[in-house]
Amino acid sequence: MADDQSAITVKNPEIVASEPNKQGYRSFTFDAFKFSRDEYFVHITWPKGKHTMEVDRFLRAMVRDIGWGFFYGWIFFDDIFGTTNHYGTVDIYAGAYDNGCKAAGIDFIQTYTAESVSKAFEVISRDWISEGYDPLRAPLETGSPMGSKGKPMTGPLLRNFNPASRMLGLPGDQPVRSDDTGTPINRAFADVTMDKPDIEPEPGFEGQLHAINLFDHISRSDVTWNPSVTAVTKASICCVTSEEHMLPVIHGNDRNEWFIQLSDEIHWKIYDKNSGNPRGTIVMKAGDVCAMPADIRHQGFSPKRCMLMVMENGSPELPELYATGKLAPYPIEF
Ligand code: PHB
Ligand code: FE
Repeated sequence: MADDQSAITVKNPEIVASEPNKQGYRSFTFDAFKFSRDEYFVHITWPKGKHTMEVDRFLRAMVRDIGWGFFYGWIFFDDIFGTTNHYGTVDIYAGAYDNGCKAAGIDFIQTYTAESVSKAFEVISRDWISEGYDPLRAPLETGSPMGSKGKPMTGPLLRNFNPASRMLGLPGDQPVRSDDTGTPINRAFADVTMDKPDIEPEPGFEGQLHAINLFDHISRSDVTWNPSVTAVTKASICCVTSEEHMLPVIHGNDRNEWFIQLSDEIHWKIYDKNSGNPRGTIVMKAGDVCAMPADIRHQGFSPKRCMLMVMENGSPELPELYATGKLAPYPIEF
């Protein structure tokens, strides 16, 4: 994928809203892209093309994309539409990584300031989400976004994005979830042992040793497919998440990332990043560790809510090293 950002025009458009349609939803123009929704579908148009997505899929992807600050690399809402993070600027593309759209000459990609895209996506999400539907929750734990507009949502759009700066539960850092933080144990984890660890430092090291029951913390997440930063050591970022149903995006990596399956199982579909051609399937079971390479896109499917640890290397120089082939796309040669 071409990654030379030096010759690219970066735009900073404002989102423009129409009057509400019959179902109560506004349409939006963001530069050359137009977004509208009806009871079931989102319609996206760009100068030479048009795409339709199911509304639940679109909103679950869009809200995560904003909350993750566009994440690492590519966020495909589906095979056609998505964003690429260049850390300060963001591409919005339609069909740019789809061989069929490219062959038909309807692929399109534009680069914007991250701030303008984030603002635009938030305006769209707020207009299209009604009270009773929470795109961050598992489908069995929330209402449906289908149908005409209902009462406006009142809660926050984005939740669970408060990263630990060193590690959860340290004085002054983010708290470990508990009944006191208003986060009960999810129905799927009622059988998990929730003992607290014993902390026994050697004399002289009191207050310097820290431990938490991570299973207890994860079991209390009220959202799904939404990693939260649990511990940070320099650029090494440890995130945990509880997964149910499907990852609402297809993630195209700009670096390696590591998955440690902590419970149950996830089926990962892996595709070539550029073409979308299938490369394989991985079924990860409790205890399995896997490195997702830097040249793929992947999507996870979790039949039962499970616990996953995601390790990211946040070093800013990595995308360039992988894009130019200076680093192999996988971390180890067997
Ligand atoms: C990923 O794309 O690697 C990813 C995203 C969200 C998750 C887990 C993994 O909850
Ligand atoms: Fe990923």
